[in-house]
Amino acid sequence: MKTYVLSACLLFALQTMNAQNIANYDESKVPEFDLPDPLTTFSNDKIRTSASWKEQRRPELIDFFESQVYGKVPGTADAIAFEVVEESNTALNGLARRRQVKVTVRKNERTLSYLILLYLPKNIAKAPIFLGYNFHGNHTVINDPAIIISEAWSLNNESIGITNHMLTEESRGMRSSRWAVNKIIEAGYGLATIYYGEIDPDKNDFTDGLHSLFYTGDQKRPARDEWGAIGAWAWALSRAMDYLEKSAEVDRSKVIVFGHSRLGKAALWAGAMDERFAGVISNDSGCGGAALSKRKFGETVAQINKNFPYWFSENFKKYNNAEEDLIVDQHELLALIAPRPLYVASAKEDEWADPRGEFLSAYYATSVYSLFGKKGIPSNEMPPVNSPIQNTVAYHIRTGKHDVTEYDWEQYIKWAVEQFN
Ligand code: GCU
Repeated sequence: MKTYVLSACLLFALQTMNAQNIANYDESKVPEFDLPDPLTTFSNDKIRTSASWKEQRRPELIDFFESQVYGKVPGTADAIAFEVVEESNTALNGLARRRQVKVTVRKNERTLSYLILLYLPKNIAKAPIFLGYNFHGNHTVINDPAIIISEAWSLNNESIGITNHMLTEESRGMRSSRWAVNKIIEAGYGLATIYYGEIDPDKNDFTDGLHSLFYTGDQKRPARDEWGAIGAWAWALSRAMDYLEKSAEVDRSKVIVFGHSRLGKAALWAGAMDERFAGVISNDSGCGGAALSKRKFGETVAQINKNFPYWFSENFKKYNNAEEDLIVDQHELLALIAPRPLYVASAKEDEWADPRGEFLSAYYATSVYSLFGKKGIPSNEMPPVNSPIQNTVAYHIRTGKHDVTEYDWEQYIKWAVEQFN
């Protein structure tokens, strides 16, 4: 079994590396392309007011991203239940309150549960919070023996030989470098995090996870225009928001959804769809996240759909090597977040995610923010490394590789405090 797991992982890593090696990283080879104007409708009407943006343009963009990119959610849950399964008022050396909340989604007589781990600053009655998925289990975010270790991934996937080796005691706090929990708490913010594998295991299999609850008859996979894994992850963030907005301990008007990489794609999509999220942070989200697809720099639509055929809707595959046929680009996903604060961040060595494409996307979303009198990215010239631009739309490119670092969190916290306090 172990050898199989290892070789499956190795094969996958090699495939991705191979794709990364053949990708274009030469700015002079970026094709010429027409970028759709966020302020011109599909039927060529000009959008001049925030009201017509909301009534006319926003809905048609949502429709397109839903049916052609991330996929639609096929209906609503029959019931959602929340249960606080563990709590402490003396967490993190007495600085924080900890809550572990079980969310149970019921649909078609089937259920799926996942845990939200919450840390809230002790001295604030209703705290603003960052909400984001983690890759390896809630217990990896900080070394706290009370954090419940997920069983979801290994339980669901042993049959096909993929186990998440970090769902172990030894892995407590192993990803703490990616989560500045103490800094967040010191700044008067809370953190809510969820292990993404509890929603939909990250593998090419639609028989398990959230999707399967919504099937009718002998259905085995979503329809062409229905949700992939990113759609499911995004939807479950909104269900977490259902809880957070009811919690007496959270400032529901200040929930900022955050995500790194594939989980940054999910955070952007959740933030675009669900206007209860007060702000959105995309950390190195790349292709299918903040980066413009039409630049075909680094990861392309064809590569992402080949390596991760279950992330987007089936319809999105129409645009493999045909980005010119897309009547939207990712700057319009960002624009759907307007006028709410949005932070896009890149890393210098993360060329696969196309830092320049992420920056330009934030720049081209700015016209929509301007419509609301909000300040976006003022120029199409990229700022130097480690020199954040922090307006309602914020951007930084830091030194280093694809990751979430202390530096990133310092910028997010500073910006959030400015935007929301
Ligand atoms: C791969 C994938 C990216 C993704 C990244 C991640 O590199 O190609 O699209 O963002 O994994 O989630 O770490």
